[in-house]
Amino acid sequence: MAKELSRGEPSEAMPSVRHSFPMGLLPYGASIVSGSLHIAGVEIQKVADEIGTPFFIYDEDHIRTTIRNAKEAFSGEIAFASKAFLCKEMARLADQEGILLDVASMGEMYVAHAAGFPGARMIFHGNNKSDQELAFAIEIGVGRIVIDSFDEIDRLESLASAKEPVSAWLRVTPGVEAHTHEYVMTGQEDSKFGFSYRWGAAQEAIELLRSSSKIRLLGLHSHIGSQIFRLDSFKAQFDVMAELISRYGFTELNLGGGLGVAYVDGEEAPEIASWVAMAQRYSKEAGLPDSLRLVLEPGRAIVARSAITVYRVGTIKRLKEIRTYVSVDGGMSDNPRPVLYESGYEAILPSRMEDVSDTIYTISGKHCESGDILVSSALLPSDLAVGELLATPVTGAYGYSMASNYNKVGRPPVVFAKDGHYRVVVRRETLDDLLHLEE
Ligand code: LLP
Repeated sequence: MAKELSRGEPSEAMPSVRHSFPMGLLPYGASIVSGSLHIAGVEIQKVADEIGTPFFIYDEDHIRTTIRNAKEAFSGEIAFASKAFLCKEMARLADQEGILLDVASMGEMYVAHAAGFPGARMIFHGNNKSDQELAFAIEIGVGRIVIDSFDEIDRLESLASAKEPVSAWLRVTPGVEAHTHEYVMTGQEDSKFGFSYRWGAAQEAIELLRSSSKIRLLGLHSHIGSQIFRLDSFKAQFDVMAELISRYGFTELNLGGGLGVAYVDGEEAPEIASWVAMAQRYSKEAGLPDSLRLVLEPGRAIVARSAITVYRVGTIKRLKEIRTYVSVDGGMSDNPRPVLYESGYEAILPSRMEDVSDTIYTISGKHCESGDILVSSALLPSDLAVGELLATPVTGAYGYSMASNYNKVGRPPVVFAKDGHYRVVVRRETLDDLLHLEE
């Protein structure tokens, strides 16, 4: 198993004393004023005092800047992979920034549609789209449906009309193993996604679709995985896709997302601008026409670093000669990534950013599982106390979007900060919400 996700264990990169936290793991708009963390000019302590904990706080301009940087370095189009983080406000932001939106379920389509995001700029993915989902996609005029199986072709043939054919891409399995955690690899042969290039399924589907009067196959799509640091992983993918594009003369190519981000001190990820420039360069080198519509679909690289999760410390348990557990008022329900992928995170004390950190703690959640660990080795001040705020940076992607209400712990609110002001864009899940679905 190729595995390059950080595990958050103490490593050579982790110092034993830290005088200041690496700003590269905080949103662009982060600043420290008299030891207190501000995001976009909003003091974290103030938000906590006003709305309670836990909460996700996003630097709105960080997201906008990242999108703009990507657009500026790229002559193609950027689609935001909404699975990384979606709420109506995020869909509106993506709309205002003029990008496309990748949606992968009825729910994602519905939320984006409810926010007024135009169907024509949505790309609909999924390895098992239902009739209901496909019918809704057709109804709202989704720009491209990414066909993932022969069954889906049959389904679309019976739902679409020759008068208004649906515009589609075909998802190709390029047979590439990306350097990442096996759970988030998608381009290898043994995958539930797409049509195999090596075994000819992609070619067969392309031939089949060429004679369809109801489905217009305009291009191809592939996505090889997520949290990828090595840009050369994308080269093998590109070669396969370029061969197919040239062979069949398609005019559109979506290379998916997958660019990794740094979660812990010492990790380095390529800039989004280098990644998009790489795709463009590959396209040129392969001799693909300038008129080719090239699309990239990042999720994590756009939003991960834009947010932190703020908790409050509830208990501190010192186990002699073992470790010290610091438990916060959230956990695997708002961030299942450490449990699922052994992903590493750092921890900070937002109100004491300038205090020296020299003690290692294990940050645990409040759930009834021993595995409910948010940060296995966090470097924090030795006098850390109950009642203090503690935050985990780089939680803007796949945190809120994968949150659950396990143990009937309500999901935290989502706050957007900009220009010294903040607003709650998704409110806290209440006890009444927990009863909402009960008959
Ligand atoms: N396009 C497609 C078709 C995808 O399946 C994905 C992610 C993306 C784009 C965006 O990938 P990104 O740029 O965010 O890496 N829950 C996991 C990540 C799963 C990614 C699934 N697909 C995690 O928390 O690491």
